[in-house]
Amino acid sequence: MMPPQRPLKTLERVLSKAGLGSRTDARSWIGARRVRVNGKVVETPDMWVDLERDRITLDGRAVRAAKKVYVLVYKPKGYITTYKDPEGRPTVYDLIRDAGAWLGPVGRLDLDTSGLLIMTNDTQFAERLSNPEYKVAKTYQVKCADLLGEEQIARLRAGVELSDGPTRPAAAARLRDTGKYTHLELTITEGRNRQVRRMVEAVGSKVLKLVRVAIGPVRIGDLPIGKWRPLTEAEVRELCPGYAGGAPERPGGRPVRTPRAGKPGKRQR
Ligand code: URA
Repeated sequence: MMPPQRPLKTLERVLSKAGLGSRTDARSWIGARRVRVNGKVVETPDMWVDLERDRITLDGRAVRAAKKVYVLVYKPKGYITTYKDPEGRPTVYDLIRDAGAWLGPVGRLDLDTSGLLIMTNDTQFAERLSNPEYKVAKTYQVKCADLLGEEQIARLRAGVELSDGPTRPAAAARLRDTGKYTHLELTITEGRNRQVRRMVEAVGSKVLKLVRVAIGPVRIGDLPIGKWRPLTEAEVRELCPGYAGGAPERPGGRPVRTPRAGKPGKRQR
């Protein structure tokens, strides 16, 4: 039998998505008979429940869906985009400790890449934003190890052949040449592994520095490096047109309304 469609979720998932603890915690609460659905103790973690219809309690207190939180982080170079690093390097989670919610990154930025990363607890939004079908543009400023000719830039625009297939046409513009280096702005609508680095290598150069300066219409603006800010409602809507997910909330419950879409700031290169 096909699993039911959303909004049905398993009980353990609902408990963990409510931000109360991990799925392992949820299973142990259920095993300890601390969880009730519509007044009845439930001992099966994989029972399908509907948070909008079923009344779920933990120790008698109602469990509600976690507020949707969407933040924009300016990741510095040298931070990894995972929760834990066996090598003990700093992670993007070190940057959002004060965001007050359990958030996951939308896509990845390489260790050596700096720039914008969206983090959220809205998995549907995250899936949609990283789905290449929706063609959300990501804009990078790139310092290349050589002076690039117009022909090389035209190839980036047209799409280059990579080991995992040809890239889509991209927007590529020379920002400036400094000494032996060309600085480009490149906008792509896919998010393949190390895509920009591989594209630049495919046209015969190398990336020396990579900064993601925009995701769709959202630019770095005046966000300082290493800091985060909530996305506004308008930004969430613009990033995912037609998406009917929750309006963004600050941890603590206040809606985020102040428009802060920024002009390009000094920190962009
Ligand atoms: N392309 C890359 O090569 N690296 C990134 O981090 C992002 C896009």
